Amino acid sequence: MDSTPGAWRAVDDFLAETLVGHDSALGAALAAQREAGLPEIEVAPVAGKLLNLLVRIAGAKRVLEIGTLGGYSTIWMARAVGDEGRIVTIEAEAAHAAVARQSIDAAGVGERVDIRVGRAADVLPTLVGGFDVVFIDADKESNTIYLDWAAKLGHPGTVVIVDNIGREGEIANPDSSDAMVVGTRDGLRMLGEDPRFDATALQTVGIKGWDGIAIALLV
Ligand SMILES: C[S@@+](CC[C@H](N)C(=O)[O-])C[C@H]1O[C@@H](n2cnc3c(N)ncnc32)[C@H](O)[C@@H]1O
Repeated sequence: MDSTPGAWRAVDDFLAETLVGHDSALGAALAAQREAGLPEIEVAPVAGKLLNLLVRIAGAKRVLEIGTLGGYSTIWMARAVGDEGRIVTIEAEAAHAAVARQSIDAAGVGERVDIRVGRAADVLPTLVGGFDVVFIDADKESNTIYLDWAAKLGHPGTVVIVDNIGREGEIANPDSSDAMVVGTRDGLRMLGEDPRFDATALQTVGIKGWDGIAIALLV
């Protein structure tokens, strides 16, 4: 099979069908997002499952998410923290947060999820630290600010995940003036240079196109 966007999608569909399967609560959350006209920018099903596995591998009980959208990734992670676990998720758009609240509650994990509505740069300084996993998936221009807060609100061993680090290959373009690319490149440089992090990143292809994910440990 040639490596084309159509083939990436076919492989992603196969992987999702084989390893993730259908889930009515997550399906309903996506349907609610579409119905409400939210942008189709949630993580892919295979990536949602990856988040769920990473939270479980880390044994995380406290998770911080920056960028809720309709709660799709939140539900994946909320399932992973267990009954005693808690997630704080930050969303700037009240309309997105309202959809997320309904879907998260309908998925049966509402007690575990605290949605804070506001700009993350304003909300983050109000949080109490101790997060075991931090998932950064909001305005890419602010990635260095969010990484700094992840370091402040985490502890040695905290897992920090940054989504969308590939940007159709543009992260390798030093001349890009796209603010999201520049923010992503700055964030990756910070992960490489800042002694608080030990990180790597993988390019990905799939139903979301050509992109990538960075994973770091706080040291
Ligand atoms: C890529 S979506 C999040 C997707 C979600 N994590 C998922 O996979 O289901 C990014 C979200 O971040 C929100 N956002 C953008 N800028 C923000 C900011 N400064 N503070 C908080 N949320 C922000 C957007 O409104 C959007 O809902």
